[in-house]
Amino acid sequence: MKNLNNDIWHSAATQSDEQKVKNQNSKFAWCLTGSGHYLKESIQLLDKMPDTDIFLSKAAEEVLPMYGHRLDDIKLKHKLFRDKTYSAVPVGALYKNGYHTVIIAPATSNTVVKCALGISDTLPTNMFAQAGKLKIDTIVFACDTEPTVITESPKEWVELTPRKVEFDNLALLKNFEECTVVETVSDLQVILDKRLKQFGLNWIEFSS
Ligand SMILES: Cc1cc2nc3c(=O)[nH]c(=O)nc-3n(C[C@H](O)[C@H](O)[C@H](O)COP(=O)(O)O)c2cc1C
Repeated sequence: MKNLNNDIWHSAATQSDEQKVKNQNSKFAWCLTGSGHYLKESIQLLDKMPDTDIFLSKAAEEVLPMYGHRLDDIKLKHKLFRDKTYSAVPVGALYKNGYHTVIIAPATSNTVVKCALGISDTLPTNMFAQAGKLKIDTIVFACDTEPTVITESPKEWVELTPRKVEFDNLALLKNFEECTVVETVSDLQVILDKRLKQFGLNWIEFSS
């Protein structure tokens, strides 16, 4: 019997970059994880991104409101997928050329290690794994990348010291093909800007 899923998989996987660019319906897939660090800055960029759908981890869904981000407000600007299924059903859109770029920003230490080790058991890590297998470009904004990190908890500022394991996982992730790891907000902005231009898009400007 003909395996339809394999055919879809194959046609997406063998697309050239040029074909992906020409696919008018492709969008950006932006995955949010349960990181408070750089959440505000990431959402400021996300809010200005055209043609972008959001994929949440369960932890992201908990952490977002702690930092004052209501899902109902986010849904006004973007299509939003929650981590509600065991098999990461929303990932299926990747096989149908629904997305040309998968962004994980900000990425928790947890998500970084899972991506680096090939574990996919959340919506963002499944997006990363399947994007990799389909040769779709991914951008990961890893946040625990400095010897000392000053971060905003919901109520106060705290100082953290990322461990060797965090740096080792970061180094592993940087070896992945089709994956660009960024470590600062400005680098994230630069790479998104390039990517938008590549697809003939501009940042959304808000008039004050
Ligand atoms: C308020 C709050 C802030 C958090 N901020 C971070 C963070 O900045 N970096 C991080 O690695 N984990 C952070 N965590 C812990 C993650 O949410 C937790 O490890 C979670 O299991 C990550 O799941 P995910 O990677 O699937 O999103 C935070 C948790 C809470 C409650």
